[in-house]
Amino acid sequence: MNPSNLIGEYDLSIGLDNFRQDVLHGLTKLPKTLPPKYFYDARGSRLFDFICETPEYYLTRKEISILEKYGSQILEQIPHPIRIIELGSGSSIKTRLLLDAASAVTAYIPIDISKEHLLRSTHALAQRFPHIPMVPVCADYTRQPALPLFDRGRRDRSLVFFPGSTLGNLDEDEALALLQSIRHMLRGDGYFLVGIDLLKDPKIMEAAYNDAERVTAAFNLNLLHRINVELDADFKLNEFQHKAVFNAREKRMEMHLRSVRHQVVWIKDVPIPFGKDETIHTESSYKYDLHEFAAFCRKAGFQSVRSWTDAEHYFAVVLLQTTPAKPNHRYIKPRLSLGGE
Ligand code: AVI
Repeated sequence: MNPSNLIGEYDLSIGLDNFRQDVLHGLTKLPKTLPPKYFYDARGSRLFDFICETPEYYLTRKEISILEKYGSQILEQIPHPIRIIELGSGSSIKTRLLLDAASAVTAYIPIDISKEHLLRSTHALAQRFPHIPMVPVCADYTRQPALPLFDRGRRDRSLVFFPGSTLGNLDEDEALALLQSIRHMLRGDGYFLVGIDLLKDPKIMEAAYNDAERVTAAFNLNLLHRINVELDADFKLNEFQHKAVFNAREKRMEMHLRSVRHQVVWIKDVPIPFGKDETIHTESSYKYDLHEFAAFCRKAGFQSVRSWTDAEHYFAVVLLQTTPAKPNHRYIKPRLSLGGE
């Protein structure tokens, strides 16, 4: 039975047609690409949870350690009561730490593309925090779902929480567009708490995406398995290999799937030729410098309030606040709407 504070859910998930279109678009251009958001089917989400437990993948542990140590300090910077909107509500441990540190939360609205994962983690959180109303929304926050309007007319502050350095999976223009959407969602008056992975020795970053148990390899290859099952394709998984390298010029880790030989893969009735060693670029994970990141956020109308890092400066949690709109500020059509306007 659902806890009584779990007050409904919204399903705005993307259909099979979008998935097919995105896959065909990515695989019929050069270089071939696939959008990383499609990693997260039920199996992919489970594999991602396992990645977070590998000794090499430091990101999750570092972020949790920051939230454990500084959670109260972070929340003290934000006037309460607050409504928390979480994007890509992956690990509920991080949310738990945030909800524990907050003194008055009027609502918790997690938004995630993976429905099963979203409902499972929100259910667990609703049991743990029975006094907080929760509304899970299954949606792709990078597209432009017409999200429902919540509590029209209320004036409590909103905090958008975007942990895990998931922002780093977006290219610069996509990240900027998302930040602008978040600003709109906050009605130009609110807070944004984001986890970002910092630039460091490439060996440490490359190890994180090439774990010895090959969980990341399985996660990457699962995308081809998903395409086989959902789009009637015939990828042979043993003919593609996981590859993860740091691209110093772009300041990002890149994941690819390399075709070990020349071959033709069919996606239902569409042939996709692969040369030997040709790759599909499946994910970028941008790594940041704190000053450059603050400058980037200013372009989207956010000013940095404060940031917290772990002792080794591997990871940072950054609190930003919306800056007041300039009178002649160019209107940018928002891609995401979750405010009361
Ligand atoms: C979700 N995202 C921030 C992860 C990352 O590090 O880019 C996804 C991931 N890919 C490989 N390992 C983890």
